[in-house]
Amino acid sequence: MQSSGELSGVITIGGAKNSVLKLMAATLLAPGRYRISRVPRIADVDLMSELLRTLGCQVTWDAPSTLRITVPDEINGVAPHEIVNEFRASIAVLSPLLARRGDAKVALPGGDKLGDRPIGMHTDALIQLGATIATDDPNYVTASAPSLTAADISFSHCSVGATETALMAAVAAKGTTTIKTAACEPEIEDLCLFLTAMGAEITGIGTHNLTITSPGGTAHLSAVDFEPIPDRIEAGTYMIAVGIAAGSVTLLNTRMDHMTELGNLLTSMGMSIAPTPDGIQVSRDAPLRSLGDYETSPYPGLATDYQPLLVALLASAGLQATVTENVFASRFQYVPELQKMGANLDVNDNQLRIGECAQLVGTTVTAPDIRAGAALVLVGLAASGTTIVNNAHHVARGYEDLSATLASLNANVKSDP
Ligand code: EPU
Repeated sequence: MQSSGELSGVITIGGAKNSVLKLMAATLLAPGRYRISRVPRIADVDLMSELLRTLGCQVTWDAPSTLRITVPDEINGVAPHEIVNEFRASIAVLSPLLARRGDAKVALPGGDKLGDRPIGMHTDALIQLGATIATDDPNYVTASAPSLTAADISFSHCSVGATETALMAAVAAKGTTTIKTAACEPEIEDLCLFLTAMGAEITGIGTHNLTITSPGGTAHLSAVDFEPIPDRIEAGTYMIAVGIAAGSVTLLNTRMDHMTELGNLLTSMGMSIAPTPDGIQVSRDAPLRSLGDYETSPYPGLATDYQPLLVALLASAGLQATVTENVFASRFQYVPELQKMGANLDVNDNQLRIGECAQLVGTTVTAPDIRAGAALVLVGLAASGTTIVNNAHHVARGYEDLSATLASLNANVKSDP
């Protein structure tokens, strides 16, 4: 891409990737026909579709963004390495398979290399609910439980994935399960609403304390139609793009209540975010002010997924700040790439100091993961000359077509086939 003028136009945000992938996994809990609308056409959805097909489901596009999933009475219990290795959300099928079949063998998940990404909290929760876990095969986790029984689960810290694993097993565990220190990201709230629509009984939705009451098994659950929440990270990406390139863009299908922290940061930097009847209008028409220090943390704190995008914004504007990353140990892998473009960055453990710098200069950089890849694309909007982002397949895992969407807003971006 080449340095672009101001952005303008209207775009519609898709359903949240990190909700949709878990809803797709949760369909395994009950046979029948599901329709999930506003599903983004991204690589991770294709991978989850392929995984569901391997498990015996039919998965088809009913309309451009509506996914129809038909779950049979009998499902297979093995999620193979070839598919699962590709993406992190695959671990979400472990509990539904266990709940439906009494056993499950799921290859250890891949996904972004954001540091050590263990699954001990997932398996500990399942053990508490009565499962036996075997990890003698280094590539697979195997779980078995003729039936699951309610338990009081208390996590040491918030984990999105482990909370989802515990939830999806608890809806089939006889009795009343409590989950303390549950993660409460909007995508987990969405999964709770999906499970509730299927027939599950869950209270405390949207809080760190969930209570799930189940008659045991999955016979009380049935297939539903569902529309997931808008993708707050996708929306935030385009808000930050406006911050980098300036201009004014209207985002349809957004939930500002899911982006309070980000909205506060961007407005404190001088951007304007105004509600419209069906979305928000995001504008930047003057130089940005510094943000000072900020840190990522589990919801309702600032999402770790915004971290590289905000660094892209600050470095593009030549503003000083210190960022503390509290969720993933290795989420600064993109720093050398930004340094190649002239950014003044210094990493010390989980802190990144952004120093003052002149305008960034376009060059060839490599995307290490989804959000950092998107951040590098956004930096290219303001850097002088041409920026080439290699390994853009990472970006396609989480964004329907980032470059085409930016181009529709007047950005000078294109992706090579
Ligand atoms: N953790 C453990 N043990 C476990 C599980 C997690 O120690 O068994 C640790 C992790 O190492 C990490 C922390 O807990 O330090 C939080 O990880 P979490 O489990 O919350 O993350 P996740 O479920 O693996 C999801 C999203 C990420 C998002 C994080 C945090 C999906 C598929 N992924 O990951 O999204 O950054 O929550 O909100 O839902 C992305 O979309 O690009 C992305 C990386």
